Amino acid sequence: MSILSSLTPPPGLRVLVTAGAGGIGAKIVAGFVETGAKVHFSDVDADAVAAATAESVTGSVANAADEADTRRLFDEAREAMGGIDVVVANAGIAGPTATIGDISADNWDQTLDVNLRGAYLAARFGAPDLIAAKGSFIAMSSVAGRLGFAYRTPYSAAKWGIVGLVKSLAAELGPQGVRANAIMPGIVEGPRIDRVISARADELGISFEEMRERNLAKVSLRRMVTAEDIAATCLFLCAPGGGSISGQALSVCGNVEAL
Ligand SMILES: NC(=O)c1ccc[n+]([C@@H]2O[C@H](COP(=O)([O-])OP(=O)(O)OC[C@H]3O[C@@H](n4cnc5c(N)ncnc54)[C@H](O)[C@@H]3O)[C@@H](O)[C@H]2O)c1
Repeated sequence: MSILSSLTPPPGLRVLVTAGAGGIGAKIVAGFVETGAKVHFSDVDADAVAAATAESVTGSVANAADEADTRRLFDEAREAMGGIDVVVANAGIAGPTATIGDISADNWDQTLDVNLRGAYLAARFGAPDLIAAKGSFIAMSSVAGRLGFAYRTPYSAAKWGIVGLVKSLAAELGPQGVRANAIMPGIVEGPRIDRVISARADELGISFEEMRERNLAKVSLRRMVTAEDIAATCLFLCAPGGGSISGQALSVCGNVEAL
């Protein structure tokens, strides 16, 4: 195999992506489809699931934080694809932007549930398939999983937790040929980050533009990254060239220096 051809996944991979109907997840789905993969995705948004299904792309309405939903999701994915080679635990919510004193226990739990419990459930129900396929587990952390993030304590705690999850999984399942990694996106262009910037701007009593500039001043490349950058990293982790990478948390962020 040439080095160049080792940069893309082999065709025919069977890929499960959580929260795949929109945002970064939808780009990950599209990226794998380009390689000739079969993809099964989940999302909580039933209309978006219906709209995103296509040839070689099937979907389930499922909440990533829910155990019964995730069990069913994996059953439906196996049924649709005949097995699972790659699990991308992408689902995550931003959670509240507030001082620690203003974060309710319910808000804390909800943020941890979608981001961290969701990744655990995907690892748990996907493990037998990944062992059978000597496959790859990828979970979506964040640069908030390697830096402290004022006013976003539950989100940051969950994203640090994901790093512990994948490093432990890599050690546990590596002898059976399974790789586990996290991706740490930086500031990704799109509506989600616009909502986060707005919330923080309101908290500080400054304009959206001022808040955006403050955020970019902490990025060495002085720009956001794209969802396509994150999808490309997922593809590389499933390509032969990425086949020795396990137990890592890869920042794709233009070098965010602080949050
Ligand atoms: N966008 C960013 O700037 C950024 C930065 C760092 C990390 N991340 C992480 O990347 C991942 C994807 O983020 P995004 O910006 O694409 O999200 P998003 O808010 O755009 O949502 C993408 C999809 O997730 C679905 N979803 C929401 N809650 C769900 C749940 N409980 N179960 C299943 N589906 C659910 C939504 O319906 C939507 O279709 C998340 O884990 C997020 O924390 C994003």
